[in-house]
Amino acid sequence: MQTPKHIAIIMDGNGRWASKRGLPRSLGHIEGEKAAERIIERAHSLNIPYLTLYALSIDNLKRDKEEVDGIFNLLISIETAYLEKLQKNNIRLLILGNRDLIPRNTLFSLERVERETRLNRQMTLQIAICYDGQDEILRALKKAENHLDEIQRPSDIAKFFDNPDVPAPDLIIRSGGEKRLSGFMLFHSCYSELAFYDKLWPDWNGEMLDLALDDYSTRERKFGKAANVGNN
Ligand code: FPP
Repeated sequence: MQTPKHIAIIMDGNGRWASKRGLPRSLGHIEGEKAAERIIERAHSLNIPYLTLYALSIDNLKRDKEEVDGIFNLLISIETAYLEKLQKNNIRLLILGNRDLIPRNTLFSLERVERETRLNRQMTLQIAICYDGQDEILRALKKAENHLDEIQRPSDIAKFFDNPDVPAPDLIIRSGGEKRLSGFMLFHSCYSELAFYDKLWPDWNGEMLDLALDDYSTRERKFGKAANVGNN
C-alpha cells in the first residue's frame, strides 16, 4: 500500500467544537491539543517520517488576545508535557513559521525542544506557528537576495524556506469541513494530494488518520505525467 512520507494537517474546527457545547473557544483548543497528540502517536506507530501540524496562522493573530495567548501557552506545554516523550520516541521537533511573530517565552521554550531533539530521526514533527505560505515565500526571497545566481530551477527556491530538509507534503488533510488550503504550504503543496473531512479537529483519533491513509492509497500520483491507464 502506498503511504505518504509527509502528512500535513490543517487542524480546523476547535472553536465550533467548543461553541456547539456552550464552552469557551479556548477549551476547544485544549481538546484540539489532545487530538494532536493522538494523531502524532498514530503517525509515529505507522512510521510516517514527517508530520506537519498547523497550530496558528499569521491571520489567527487577529483573534481575541485571550484565545491567541491560550494557544501560545498550549504550545509552551510541548516542552513541559512532551519533551521526554519526543526523546523516548526519537521524534525531532521543528518550528515552521515566522519566529519574529512568536512571543519570546513560547519561542524560547520551543527552540529548546528543537535543540534537544535535533538528532532524533524516526519522525520529524513540524509545528506551524505564526505561519503563512506567502510570508514564508517573502522571507525566503529576502534570504535569497544575495544568492540569486544559485536559483536556476524552482526547486532551488526551496533551499531558502524555513526547513529546507523537509520534503514537500504528499498528503494535506484539513478537518472541520472547509475545502481550501488558506495559503498553507503554498509552494510545497504543488503536487500534494488533498483530503477534506467534516469531522471537527477535537473529535479526531487514530482511526481518522487510518481513513485518510486508505483514501490516499487509492490516489494515482501523476506529477504532471499522463494517467496510468491499462498497460500505459
Ligand atoms: C483551528 O480551529 C485551530 C487553531 C487555530 C488552533 C489549533 C491549535 C491546537 C490544536 C494546539 C496545538 C498543539 C499542539 C501540541 C500541536 P478554529 O479555532 O479555527 O476552529 P473554528 O473554525 O471552528 O472556529
